[in-house]
Amino acid sequence: MSTDFRSLIAAKRDGHRHSREELEQIAEAAARHSVPSYQLSAWLMAAFLHPLDLDETTWLTQAMAGSGARLDLSGLPKPWIDKHSTGGIGDKTSIVLLPLLAACGATVVKMSGPGLGITGGTVDKLKSIPGFRMELSPEELLEQAKRIGVAITGQTPDLAPADKALYDLRNATATTQSVPLIVSSILSKKIAGGAETIVLDVKCGSGGFMTTLPEAEELAAWLLRVGRNCGLNIRTTITDMNQPLGSAVGNALEVREAIDVLTKEPEQLPGPTRRFRRLCIYFAGEALAAAGLAKNEKEGQEAAQRCLSLGKAAQKAAHWIAAQGGPENLELASQQLPKSRIQLVVSARQTGFIERIDAASVGEIVIELGGGRKRKGAAIDYSVGVVLAGAVGDAVVEGKPLCTVHAAGETQAQTAAAHLSDTFKITNRPVEPADPVLKALP
Ligand code: URA
Repeated sequence: MSTDFRSLIAAKRDGHRHSREELEQIAEAAARHSVPSYQLSAWLMAAFLHPLDLDETTWLTQAMAGSGARLDLSGLPKPWIDKHSTGGIGDKTSIVLLPLLAACGATVVKMSGPGLGITGGTVDKLKSIPGFRMELSPEELLEQAKRIGVAITGQTPDLAPADKALYDLRNATATTQSVPLIVSSILSKKIAGGAETIVLDVKCGSGGFMTTLPEAEELAAWLLRVGRNCGLNIRTTITDMNQPLGSAVGNALEVREAIDVLTKEPEQLPGPTRRFRRLCIYFAGEALAAAGLAKNEKEGQEAAQRCLSLGKAAQKAAHWIAAQGGPENLELASQQLPKSRIQLVVSARQTGFIERIDAASVGEIVIELGGGRKRKGAAIDYSVGVVLAGAVGDAVVEGKPLCTVHAAGETQAQTAAAHLSDTFKITNRPVEPADPVLKALP
């Protein structure tokens, strides 16, 4: 028999531990909207103030994963790999990593959400490719994954509906920043999506969900423990989000950069893009080793390098994009991406070395240009954004380009350029380049 919801709220309010059955009841109530949102909100605040422990978080994750349909990948060749990032500025890793892993022999099925706060989402990035469909039915998703090894879809309301309800309420009740609630939200969707092996990228820095290393470590450790409790083969790495990832920030610009990584040799890529490429290879090594497609991470990275150099990843990406409605090859896809009307170069005010490029500020500037949403559901301009000429540690020369603003109009470009100059800190002393990987969890 189900407990009166008021006693569930009171139990958590008073700091008591929930049973598995109680957490199942809460997930069920959220998914079916069977209790008023004020009661769920009160429970969320109680759970925010008295955080769930590891067992409770595991039970809630499992209950949320089971609150709707589950994707059944059993007809697809193994291993099944999924990848998730907590989101960052310029984070287009999935666009390279998904076809790269499929080219290395994995089946990759991914569900992706829209942008969160100042970070862009993979859904919007891929939608900037003319014709690309993010709304695949479960049947289409599985058929495509079987045929070419890789498929992606936007979030569907049928999977983990409890998360959808709780997530919206968390946003509205200042209860987002609770590690157990974040963990159950992320992992329940992954489990409902059929994941087996998952590589998780926890971004840390001004442009990430977690801004300090201790916070990121806590989230990463919880994701790992709860993921393992739920039977997932999971790897977690904390990566740098104090500066944007790669050169491009903005939807179509990021897709073009990802296509460059897939189709060009590292020597042909600008420094920040090479740094992004290194992160893609790193995650490929982690995923291939975790899934048993490589003996260890080093061999996984070598296999990924070979796949990229031999053009196998590019070929897989071309099949993937065409299968989801985009142009038939990567050259066409890159050419057909929307281009902004104005391109304005921002020059360095002094000679020296880049000490800092504030990722959060760059993200906010791109939103102001129209490349991200201020309100849920608002339209975005896929063509706008910023392309950085250097990364932290690179030398700059007074009067030479620091970055280029891609804008819809002259005024927006000038405003963005003025703000961008302030997001760069230039120093006279040489600066060590920042490794994109901060810490891999054992
Ligand atoms: N991403 C999610 O899916 N859920 C959270 O709670 C935070 C980030």
